Amino acid sequence: MHIKSAEFVMSNSDVAKCPKAKLPEYAFIGRSNVGKSSLINMLTARKSLAKTSGRPGKTQLINHFLINSNWHLVDLPGYGYARVSKNAKKTFQKFITEYFSQREQLVSAFVLVDIRHEPQTIDLEFMQWLGENGVPFSIIFTKADKLKPKAILRNIEAYKAVLLETWEEMPNYFITSSSNETGKDTVLEYIDTLNDN
Ligand code: GTP
Ligand code: MG
Repeated sequence: MHIKSAEFVMSNSDVAKCPKAKLPEYAFIGRSNVGKSSLINMLTARKSLAKTSGRPGKTQLINHFLINSNWHLVDLPGYGYARVSKNAKKTFQKFITEYFSQREQLVSAFVLVDIRHEPQTIDLEFMQWLGENGVPFSIIFTKADKLKPKAILRNIEAYKAVLLETWEEMPNYFITSSSNETGKDTVLEYIDTLNDN
């Protein structure tokens, strides 16, 4: 898919105020600092469409971006960042939960996972919650530039093994790097296919 246009639409913390248009939508979620905003910039080839930072907790709202005038990408705050105040964490949790359980336009979520780490309980629990709530999702492994190909394969196999303890099959997954654009075409083609259905 060629990205002809990508524009910021709005930010808010209330799912009821998200864009009303019935356009297909894809949301990026995962732990703080996993690379959600960077991935959105990489996919859209816009350097600073979504704000990124080396410090976790950068994205704090639901951010809608309109792509090619006919679908939305959504950048969300990360979960699991210990240094955000308890209140802020609760507020995030509330609107993220509401977003995923109420947003009718959502076609699929992408749960981002840092390829370098062992499976983390918080990610596994979040995927479980999506499954229980009937939200389709794929996994996007991020920061693949940080590992050698062999280590990537080894970590994916370890992830699969843990997921298959609770899931009947391995969810659809992608290996990406926002630094060297690994996975860009594959993810965009996948979204294209879903948009056509
Ligand atoms: P929050 O909004 O805080 O939840 O973080 P986020 O998930 O949006 O992460 P963000 O895109 O802001 O990136 C966090 C840090 O990881 C930044 O320093 C990025 O430069 C770095 N980063 C993101 N993706 C990659 C990648 O593919 N490779 C490498 N090497 N670094 C990356
Ligand atoms: Mg972010």
